[in-house]
Amino acid sequence: MSQDLAKRKAAEAALAYVQAGRVLGVGTGSTVNIFIDLLAESGLAGKIKGAVSSSNASSERLQKIGVPVLDLNSTGELSIYVDGADESNPKLQLIKGGGAALTREKIVAAASEQFICIVDRSKQVEVLGRFPLPVEVIPMAQAYVARRIEALGGQPKLRQNVITDNGNQILDVHGLAIHDAVALETEINLITGVVCVGLFARRGADVLIVGTPEGAQIIK
Ligand code: 5RP
Repeated sequence: MSQDLAKRKAAEAALAYVQAGRVLGVGTGSTVNIFIDLLAESGLAGKIKGAVSSSNASSERLQKIGVPVLDLNSTGELSIYVDGADESNPKLQLIKGGGAALTREKIVAAASEQFICIVDRSKQVEVLGRFPLPVEVIPMAQAYVARRIEALGGQPKLRQNVITDNGNQILDVHGLAIHDAVALETEINLITGVVCVGLFARRGADVLIVGTPEGAQIIK
């Protein structure tokens, strides 16, 4: 319950970054769902030009509140992208993909000037990796990629009964303590068959909003 309130406080604080008349990038997950609900409650949903969404689930939720969902190919650069995370370290490098939307999330983040990440305190860690690192893979390469990741010291497990919005599978990599997130992101990205790794280190968050039941802390 207090975690829900903390998520709500983070989502509320993110509303201050939303600009009327602009296209908003919107991520995926329970914290983002609260943010979308607040867009409706605050009246901002009717003031933005539309949104680019990182998942079918968020697109549906945005459409339900009357926000036009736009194709990133037609919008150009976005001013802000609001999304949650599974972990954040003090450099604002993230693990994402708990909701299997990491590839589109990384694309929308890359195409946005500012990435505003909304979390509760449980997501803050000193060293990334306690949360299993999601890796989206082309299905026929899943076993090959798993062997390559084992060689890097991780323990990949195929996420059961999950197919991503892109038609791919997810390996969740356990047992990592990620001290050089940029290097590991690059290394995993280079494995043939990997579509995307859920490490957001080369392009981490620009602003981390950490919600607590009492309020929100903004870290830049
Ligand atoms: C989805 C994500 C989410 O941002 C992440 O899983 C956090 O979700 P929640 O806000 O439900 O804790 O990366 O792919």
